[in-house]
Amino acid sequence: MLPVDTRILADPEALATTACRLIGDAAQEAIRQRGVFRLVLAGGNTPNRTYQRLATTRQQWAAWEIYWGDERCLPADHPQRNSDQAQRAWLAEVPIPPGQIHPIPAERGGAAAAAIYARLIGDRQPLDLVLLGMGEDGHTAGLFPGAADDSAAVIAVHDAPKPPAERVSLNFHTLGAGRQQLVLVSGAEKAAAVAAWQQGEQLPIARATSSHACLLLDAPASHSAGLATSLI
Ligand code: 6PG
Repeated sequence: MLPVDTRILADPEALATTACRLIGDAAQEAIRQRGVFRLVLAGGNTPNRTYQRLATTRQQWAAWEIYWGDERCLPADHPQRNSDQAQRAWLAEVPIPPGQIHPIPAERGGAAAAAIYARLIGDRQPLDLVLLGMGEDGHTAGLFPGAADDSAAVIAVHDAPKPPAERVSLNFHTLGAGRQQLVLVSGAEKAAAVAAWQQGEQLPIARATSSHACLLLDAPASHSAGLATSLI
C-alpha cells in the first residue's frame, strides 16, 4: 500500500515546490531540536527541479549535512554521478561547509566505498530526512527488484539493470530508519509501478519506505493507482 501521506500534485513544477517546502520545514525543525539537519539525497533526474528550487531559498545552511542514498561507481567528477549532479543543481550555489557534504566514494569501487560509508553514517543515525526516487520497475536508490536485505547498512551492487551496473547503496533498513522520508515520483512511465505498490506488491520502494513516509506524485504518475485525484 502507498503511504498514508500520499499527495498528488498537478505537475513536476508543483511537485518540486511542495518538496522544497517540506525539506525546508524538516530542516528548521531538526536544527531547532538538534542544531543539525542531516539530509540524504536521491539520485536520478526527478529530484533535480527540487534541488534547483532549494538553491533559491534562504536556509541555515551552516547546519546542513548532506549524504547520498546511492551512487554510481564512476569517477568522482563524472557528470553521471549523483554527487556531481547535485553539485551542479544546487550544492555549488549554497554555503554548506564543504566538510559537511559527504559523497559516497564510489570511485573507489563498490565494496570499499560501502565499507567507508557505513562507518561514516554509523554514528550519525537516525538521519533526519531521506529523499527517495523510484524507477519504472519500482527500484529505489540502488535497490532493484530481487535485492536481498542483509544486515549491512550500505551495500555494493554489481548487477543493476539501470546503467551503470556497479553502484553503492544504503540498504533498505538504513533508508527506512530515517526520521522522515520524502518520496518523489513523477511521470506516466512510473504509473504502473505506483499501481503495483498500491496493490501491495513488495517492490524495493515499498520495502525501503516507512509507514510515516510522505509520497509526492504528479498526476501522470498517479493515474493508474485508482487514487482520489484530489490535486494539492
Ligand atoms: C539513480 C537513483 C535511482 C533513481 C530512479 C529514478 O542513481 O539512478 O538513485 O534509484 O532514483 O532510477 O530515476 P529518475 O528520477 O531519473 O526517473
